[in-house]
Amino acid sequence: MRYNNALVTGGAGFIGSHLVGRLVEDGLDVTVIDNLHAGKPENLDSSKGGATLIKGDIRDVELLKRVIVDVDIVFHIGANASVPYSVENPRYDFETNALGTFNILEASVNSNVKKVVYASTAAVYGEPEYIPIDEKHPLRPISPYGASKLAGESVGMAFKETYGLNFASIRIFNTYGPRQPRYVIYDFIMKLRRDPKNLEVLGTGEQVRDYCYVSDMVDAFMLMAEKGDGIYNAAGGVPTSIRELAELMVSEISPGAEIQYGGKTWKGDINTLIADITKLRNLGFAPKVDLRIGVKKMIEWFNAVKISKR
Ligand SMILES: NC(=O)c1ccc[n+]([C@@H]2O[C@H](COP(=O)([O-])OP(=O)(O)OC[C@H]3O[C@@H](n4cnc5c(N)ncnc54)[C@H](O)[C@@H]3O)[C@@H](O)[C@H]2O)c1
Repeated sequence: MRYNNALVTGGAGFIGSHLVGRLVEDGLDVTVIDNLHAGKPENLDSSKGGATLIKGDIRDVELLKRVIVDVDIVFHIGANASVPYSVENPRYDFETNALGTFNILEASVNSNVKKVVYASTAAVYGEPEYIPIDEKHPLRPISPYGASKLAGESVGMAFKETYGLNFASIRIFNTYGPRQPRYVIYDFIMKLRRDPKNLEVLGTGEQVRDYCYVSDMVDAFMLMAEKGDGIYNAAGGVPTSIRELAELMVSEISPGAEIQYGGKTWKGDINTLIADITKLRNLGFAPKVDLRIGVKKMIEWFNAVKISKR
């Protein structure tokens, strides 16, 4: 890679820490800004020596001005990443995801940053009008989270037009893997640890997602750094229903457990999210980790860190 150093916001979080690991392996000096709202310093243990963690907030303009001076590339991943949290705390969500992104972009334009890669989300689309969803699909977010992430992305695209900022954005569909702090695969593992005989599933089981293992998502970020320009969907490319996922997880963790469907979902959640990833594939993206293998790796991580039964 043609960069010597990188700033990764949110680098102590799930996706961010895996990206930091890859950048350090590639020989870059990495600085992480993370306020540890959801991230953990230990997520960076395997990158020790190559990454410096600054416990700081992307809402802090002065901090960003100090840190973004001789940075080659910014991977802006720090955000409130939880839809339910955004519903409960829309101000934190907006200040971090929209204004925080503005702060990063402004500091990048005012310094020698060569490129900004932004972690956007499939939530910018809202309820799909057609599937698979390509990048031209209308943008009608239905959660505070989707709206705040779209605001950040829009400012990035406007700064690209106005100031010539080299900006690339990845609209991430559901990503999973070790260190993930939330969402369905995490919840299923936790539930089956608590009660190995039953798995209660929210919703009807018919909801569909396009899961991507985290190392494949890191590949997408690396491609963005190398040749991304504008906006790209990123997903695993294999749409899977919650029912199929639940059956897979039960077979891996607790064969014979009974699966019950509760029928209810939460506000801001979307029924079917299937991505068209042709644009990213044309850049060379090729997801490698099959869902069964990825789920096994995530379960191994749970067992290794001995997360207590909650
Ligand atoms: N995991 C997914 O499936 C998914 C899907 C779509 C988009 N994304 C996007 O990818 C990015 C990473 O998500 P993740 O799943 O790794 O979640 P995560 O919560 O593990 O990572 C987000 C990180 O940002 C940090 N952060 C939060 N507020 C901050 C603030 N004000 N200042 C500095 N740091 C702050 C958190 O402490 C955390 O470490 C986010 O931008 C999210 O919107 C993730």
